[in-house]
Amino acid sequence: MAKITYIEHSGTEHNIEVETGKTVMQGAVDNFVEGIIGECGGCCSCATCHVIVDEAWYSKTGGPNESELEMLDAVPVLTPTSRLSCQLKVTEELDGLVVTLPEEQF
Ligand code: FES
Repeated sequence: MAKITYIEHSGTEHNIEVETGKTVMQGAVDNFVEGIIGECGGCCSCATCHVIVDEAWYSKTGGPNESELEMLDAVPVLTPTSRLSCQLKVTEELDGLVVTLPEEQF
């Protein structure tokens, strides 16, 4: 398990223990965190799971691969630490991860 903090655009925080092996998107959807939709179910084809990774954690996520980068081009407001949360696999190393949700997914 790893504790993930999801911060909604409004500032509301959700501290959730997510099973390792799941994705950050699954952790949000399973716990009804508003602001992460995950429409494609995690196959990197919808970009409705955009999160902004806390700067201190960004390097630990490993960075996006090429197909994720292509999908990130579709998000309304891209930031230097933007990721698609379905591509963030929860590991023990990500225990304490903090992500902020964008104002809108689409
Ligand atoms: Fe569709 Fe992440 S859930 S790209």
